[in-house]
Amino acid sequence: MATATLTKSGDIAVIRLAHPPVNALAQGVRQGIQDGIAAANADPAIKAIVVTGDGRAFSAGADITEFRSGPKPPGLGEVIDTMEASAKPVVAALNGLALGGGLEVALGCHYRVANKAANQLGLPEVKIGILPGAGGTQRLPRIIGIEAALDMIVSGNPVNAEKAAKVGLVDRLVEGDVVEGAIAFARELVAAGKGPRPGSATRIDPASVPADLFAKKRASIARHPSGPMAAKNCIAAVEAAVGSDYKAGVARERALFLELAGKPYARALQYAFFAERQAANVPDIGKDVTPRDVKTVGILGAGTMGTGIGLAFLNAGLPVTIVEANQQALDQGAKRVRETIESNVQRSRISAEEGQKRLANLTTSLDLKALVNADLIIEAVFENMALKKEIFAKLDAVAKPGAVLASNTSTLDVDEIASATKRPQDVVGMHFFSPANIMRLLEVVRGKETAKDTLATAMAIARRIGKVGVVSGVCFGFIGNRMVEAYLEEAQAMLLEGATPADIDGALEAWGLAMGPLAMMDMAGLDVGYRIRQEHKLTPERAKLYRVTDAIVEMGRHGQKTGAGYYTYGADRKRQSDPKIEEMFAKEAAAQGLSNRKPGADEIVERCLLRLANEGAKILEEGIALRASDIDTIYLNGYGFPGWRGGPMWQIEEMGLAKVAEKIKAYEARHGKRWAIAPLIEKLVASGGKLADAGVKG
Ligand code: 3HC
Ligand code: NAI
Repeated sequence: MATATLTKSGDIAVIRLAHPPVNALAQGVRQGIQDGIAAANADPAIKAIVVTGDGRAFSAGADITEFRSGPKPPGLGEVIDTMEASAKPVVAALNGLALGGGLEVALGCHYRVANKAANQLGLPEVKIGILPGAGGTQRLPRIIGIEAALDMIVSGNPVNAEKAAKVGLVDRLVEGDVVEGAIAFARELVAAGKGPRPGSATRIDPASVPADLFAKKRASIARHPSGPMAAKNCIAAVEAAVGSDYKAGVARERALFLELAGKPYARALQYAFFAERQAANVPDIGKDVTPRDVKTVGILGAGTMGTGIGLAFLNAGLPVTIVEANQQALDQGAKRVRETIESNVQRSRISAEEGQKRLANLTTSLDLKALVNADLIIEAVFENMALKKEIFAKLDAVAKPGAVLASNTSTLDVDEIASATKRPQDVVGMHFFSPANIMRLLEVVRGKETAKDTLATAMAIARRIGKVGVVSGVCFGFIGNRMVEAYLEEAQAMLLEGATPADIDGALEAWGLAMGPLAMMDMAGLDVGYRIRQEHKLTPERAKLYRVTDAIVEMGRHGQKTGAGYYTYGADRKRQSDPKIEEMFAKEAAAQGLSNRKPGADEIVERCLLRLANEGAKILEEGIALRASDIDTIYLNGYGFPGWRGGPMWQIEEMGLAKVAEKIKAYEARHGKRWAIAPLIEKLVASGGKLADAGVKG
């Protein structure tokens, strides 16, 4: 139920926003605020009004679920204007987060009081492709100054109560009950004869604004995570606050808001927001399944992944024991962990005390028995089935009953690994992405026998360490890497057709990807894929596509780490095109009798995207992924796919599946069976269905 209630505490009225869990400002809440303000103003016994939120939040802002159906009156801007026009002073009691429209409500109040729980105060609208549309771009600069407001609005990043008090967003910080604090503050105002203080009344003198402020900001947003429009419009809206009266500024804000609302970029970002939350719902794992308690974590292997995973847990405050087979590798890994933590202290990302705490939580050992007390053990040794099975058999003998045994394998069969133990129900895949302390994605691989509470534990721990957990079934490469195979293969084909590495990476990066496929392969190490290709014999067609890349690896060019791969790398690690590589592809193309047709940028993007999504549709139909939105969540969080493009599955749904099917078939006619269409796409075209409705519900 969405509402706002009015109660009285002597001569102070308290309006409480009530819409669990985060008091999103649905129609009922807006109406409640408006009615509450009117009633309090009409009541002669009331001297001042306090506005607060029920539960853990003040308010998370506009109800994003209402965006699709369109707003119902009263509009939020109108409600906030009514509040600000109150003849009696209105004080916000910030009891928890206030974001977006939530903070705009607080800005419409005449004064603001907060306690420590108000640890996120911000205007994150840009992150969902829009801008603060209820006066926020006009009131915030007037209240905290243009520079601080511009930073907050363009980054979308929140500040905590302490910082808010420093910049003048919060008038008083209180310990304990913030509503009591705000009531006391309101009584002081009344006693001092201080009335309403409307934030919109100030005029920002253009002379007070640094001349190059907006130009500099515009220059900084070329690759803003919200895409090409939202940050630009945010800047323009804040600029409109300078010199103008509030009404004119708000009219400009509205026009700029309407340019963004409902646009593909905004819809994609809003879809991504809900997709990420949806991924946490596993249909057969309800609230009745309790995750196991994880207090200590063991990690096997102190290589690239083991140390990154160790850092991810240390950063979340968990004690970690890393076990290695090799003293030198252990020393190097521990050194990397320590140096990363120390550099975080040096860069003031964490306090010295916090750094010490994290370092003290790290234990290292060469003895597997050091893991006897671990509640969760994650194996990150070499990608070799025999070795993994040997290790899991040993873990079975050492680990305590009920410990979750996870493998970070990126390709191997989790069921086969589990079969090396007598407790396959406790085994699960936890596929982190490199660098594991940074990348948000965690693919949680559910084996045939993985117990529900084992899976629930992996998903819960993902959230606890700030990762986005997405469930995958067992198959080669799981969801993300299986799709990437198709994508990389298409890139190989286009290299043979005459596109250069820079053409391919450039096209996809201009479209929005953080990094093109060939630069990505150079970064991950070309030898990694080479070894996998050697192990899993390729079909003759695929082998032909990879012939040049294999030759590049055999020349000792393994990518960035050897200073050369598809590109060459200088000391600054910047990539440079290498004509030698282009010649190698041209020669091979000639040998294979291919004509040089040099696909253009649009074709490059389309082919990469369609190969990704076509494989995604197969994965969805096989039940490896629960939903299309899970696949997109994987691409957005693990593969540098831009949020404002929604993800590969979102993209083909937007294109229209019938058109997509037509294109895929045309490519199949031209390039052969690697383009075989996913049956699910054909079925959906025939039934007029949507990818969003395929897969599981809930
Ligand atoms: N509208 C609708 N639902 C929302 C919501 C919102 N603004 N914010 C959160 N929710 C829902 C979530 O979907 C989730 O629902 P579920 O339980 O059914 O999955 C539930 O509330 C709890 O959210 P989280 O799981 O994300 O809880 P966390 O504690 O991890 O995070 C949060 C809370 C920081 C508030 C996070 O949800 C968030 O960032 N929300 C979006 C905030 C935002 O973008 N606000 C601006 C809205 S646009 C606006 O205000 C326009 C205005 O300028 C006119
Ligand atoms: P790595 O080669 O950097 O590290 C592996 C470490 O395991 C080495 O330090 C080695 O000494 C140690 N080790 C070997 N046998 C051991 C044993 N019996 N006990 C303890 N330690 C032992 O390898 P990397 O890249 O960290 O990969 C580890 C696993 O993570 C592999 O399964 C890989 O497929 C997977 N993975 C790798 C990713 C990457 O980008 N590198 C991404 C995601 C998963």
